[in-house]
Amino acid sequence: MLSLCQKTISKIIITPVLNKRFFTSLFEMEKTPFDYTQDNYEKVDNILSKYPSEHKKSAIIPLLHLAQDQEGYVPESAMVKIASIVSCPVSKVFETFTFYSMFRPKPVGDHVVEVCTNLSCQLRGADQVLKAIQDKLGIKLGETTKDKKFTLLEVECQGACATAPVVVIDGNYYEDVEVQSITSILSDFSHDIVPKSGTQTQRKGPEPMDDQYFIMRVITAYLLCVMGGNETPGVEDIKNVFKAAGIDDSDKDGKIEKFVGLMKGKNIFDVINAGKLQMGSLPMGGMGGSGGSSEKKEEEKEEEPEPEPEPESESESDDDMFGGGLFD
Ligand code: FES
Repeated sequence: MLSLCQKTISKIIITPVLNKRFFTSLFEMEKTPFDYTQDNYEKVDNILSKYPSEHKKSAIIPLLHLAQDQEGYVPESAMVKIASIVSCPVSKVFETFTFYSMFRPKPVGDHVVEVCTNLSCQLRGADQVLKAIQDKLGIKLGETTKDKKFTLLEVECQGACATAPVVVIDGNYYEDVEVQSITSILSDFSHDIVPKSGTQTQRKGPEPMDDQYFIMRVITAYLLCVMGGNETPGVEDIKNVFKAAGIDDSDKDGKIEKFVGLMKGKNIFDVINAGKLQMGSLPMGGMGGSGGSSEKKEEEKEEEPEPEPEPESESESDDDMFGGGLFD
């Protein structure tokens, strides 16, 4: 059993050794004083006004964000400041800070490059994108370039899986990135140019990609014409709908003409009612979700009993119409 004297010695000598990080932190805090700017103090007041005065510590997270927006990271002295603002122990702020990975404990470069390596991005080439960034910047994850221009971080899902892979730079989302596009984006940043964020492909948002999306538009435009009283729309009618909607009508593969040709003499509503024009039957690309439903259909089909052979009729030509060519 430790004597009182031994306990006292351990408190004086051992505890500070165990708490080296605390003392080191105190030492670092001396060097990195923090205070919100005058403008940000207005934001502090605004944040605090959203919470009841007896629950001021609910403002810890927004105040941490504000400190990080101001400094690029959260110095420990900022945590002391926040604790004094919300009247709680510094440890409370510290435990909140360490729980969330979006708060940065160290100074960062001018541009923070955050690469999502979660599942969807991983499946769509995040590894290659990350390698391209590391090669281009000459740094590894968690590091900052020597010129202090870029810091590279790995992040979890950014909620933009539909346009994976995603790289967030200075809070802006760069989506559908590939090795070539991310390399050119970083070149722009290194020349102080802020490139256009969002998807780096032709699509406008998280809609299915390329041909399948164009075909869906053709069908929609065709339907609009029919519903407007034109029972046999032609290529120009469909293009006019595109123009009216401000949609690019360039159709290098002649898909509009082919669709119009195949629909000739058929009532599109009969075709839909006959189940020949369902989304699940179209080979959707990009998202994969519809492809899944189409696969399921195939599985279900296998379990169905063989249908009675039907006499040859016009319906066979419907099968031809959607079975090959246009949607291949
Ligand atoms: S997995 Fe990367 S944005 Fe969701």
